[in-house]
Amino acid sequence: MCGIVGYIGLPEKSAEHHALDVLMEGLRRLEYRGYDSAGVATVAGGAVESRKKSGKLANLVAEIEQQPLTPASLGIGHTRWATHGGPTDLNAHPHFGDDNKLAVIHNGIIENFAQLRQRLSAAGHVFDSQTDTEVAAKLIGEAFQATGDLTEAMRQAVNELEGAFTLLAVHPDQPDRVVAARRNSPLVVGLGEGENFLGSDVSGFIDFTREAVELEQDQIVTITAGDVSIINFDGSAAAGKRFYIDWDATAAEKSGYDSFMEKEINEQPKAVEDTLLGRTDAAGRLTLDELRISPEQLKDTTKIIVLACGTAAYAGTVAKYAIEHWTRIPVEVELAHEFRYRDPIIDETTLVVSISQSGETMDTLMAVRYAKEQGARTLSICNTNGSTIPRESDAVLYLHAGPEIAVASTKAFLAMIAASYLLGLYLAQLRGQLFSGQISDILADLHKIPAKIQKILDSADEIKALAQAMAQTPSVLFLGRHVGFPVAMEGALKLKELAYIHAEGFAAGELKHGPIALIEEGQPVFVVVPSPRGRDSLHGKVVSNIQEVRARGAKTITVAEEGDDAVREFSENVFFVPETQPLLMPLLTTVPLQIFACALASEKGYDVDQPRNLAKSVTVE
Ligand code: G6P
Repeated sequence: MCGIVGYIGLPEKSAEHHALDVLMEGLRRLEYRGYDSAGVATVAGGAVESRKKSGKLANLVAEIEQQPLTPASLGIGHTRWATHGGPTDLNAHPHFGDDNKLAVIHNGIIENFAQLRQRLSAAGHVFDSQTDTEVAAKLIGEAFQATGDLTEAMRQAVNELEGAFTLLAVHPDQPDRVVAARRNSPLVVGLGEGENFLGSDVSGFIDFTREAVELEQDQIVTITAGDVSIINFDGSAAAGKRFYIDWDATAAEKSGYDSFMEKEINEQPKAVEDTLLGRTDAAGRLTLDELRISPEQLKDTTKIIVLACGTAAYAGTVAKYAIEHWTRIPVEVELAHEFRYRDPIIDETTLVVSISQSGETMDTLMAVRYAKEQGARTLSICNTNGSTIPRESDAVLYLHAGPEIAVASTKAFLAMIAASYLLGLYLAQLRGQLFSGQISDILADLHKIPAKIQKILDSADEIKALAQAMAQTPSVLFLGRHVGFPVAMEGALKLKELAYIHAEGFAAGELKHGPIALIEEGQPVFVVVPSPRGRDSLHGKVVSNIQEVRARGAKTITVAEEGDDAVREFSENVFFVPETQPLLMPLLTTVPLQIFACALASEKGYDVDQPRNLAKSVTVE
């Protein structure tokens, strides 16, 4: 949510390496974080210059073409997801101090902004915008007037702020630095030679350097062309943790696809393969990426609570079915934002598993912190190395799925499910719940999944054709049972997010208890059909559910296992997926639903990468 980028290079190089180019490249890569307005401020020749514009980044680019900026060696850039104040030119960042020289950009929410604004207004400060950011700009500006030192001014100001924020500031009176602060909101530093960078995440500077530094909570960083220095909010010196960015810059490009979403859907075989890669030690036993508690403590887990939001929460529901089945540990799945407000029962034998692509979702982060305070052990399943949630957790399983740029999650969803299976098997191994042969059989089946996903992708045209034909449909329902239930929910969510169509996912068994009232002549209903194989198959029950809706006029579109020819009779359209173990089916049955939503939204002419009102990384509560 809100993309932030900062840059400083050697002044003599500014003519050939204009700070603006670096900032715009960073903003282009960070635009997925928010895209209702964008702005930059650069410092050159003792003055600050700024351009800002509502709408997508392209509007800012056009504005700068019309009113070019002086070549500069430092600057800050912002792409916004509005919280306080609508997405107007005026509310776009940067915002300025009273001297109109101090420029500030911000990500997050300053919770005590109303009180601060009242106090500052009473003291004579005049506000141009409705944003909480401008309050921070006035505070930093005031402190800069008094101290003449941007780092100290930032330090004094942040100590008055409550809530979540990353703030970046520049001032032409100190033209050798960019100063930034973070609390509960992401910020990373990129290290160059004779230049340094700041970004909400590493994609903000991935084109320029692979060396980066993580910041801790409540820290201020001052970057100059040749130095990076970090202090805590109390002024004491601090050191960041260096890390190497192993993401490939081209991984964050579209590589010939029309959209990142299409690219990411097509990357799923690789994403799942990479999630599964290198998970066993020399003795063939499963391992986690980071473990800061003893395996014995994990082994003694009496209850698991999975915390997540959005798509990640549906991955959590799949996790519940698998982990309970393999470990016999009770698993609850809870939306992270509901969790800490209901007095949950947790103790030191509770394992709280958070699932988050970004590792920065504020609701999830706050829930994890709450769980830790209550004594629970925490384990993070996450795609973004070095992000806050894994850093603050006792154990980590990274997805290794590569950067996910499209706002609505696809490949991270499958990778989260694959990682959840690994976690379930890891815990089963620790507790001796499954024999090693059983674990290796399941792992072997998991390793066959990428090729099976590829097979589905190779037959995507049929699904796309159906999506195109259904572009005018006002509502679509999705039904599933067992692990097919979260898949139905995710199918509906994708359609809402991308195509702005009313869509609902239901447990097929629940249908007759209410939702069946929605069925009328011609209502499209997607049904995720379980495998007909096996003693406990729910196939027959789901076929009955199909009959129930068809009898009331529904048009049924089924996703079924190859060879399940019986469903043809009950389906307007069938999309077959290859066979696998019932618990692993979501890795396959989700894919046609993603392709469908993406194709339908594209047919309607919508931007599938940046759907309206959504942000990829929601760093406010
Ligand atoms: C936002 C995104 C969703 C995502 C959710 C959780 O709402 O729009 O696509 O599923 O956040 O994000 P996380 O990074 O925690 O997985």
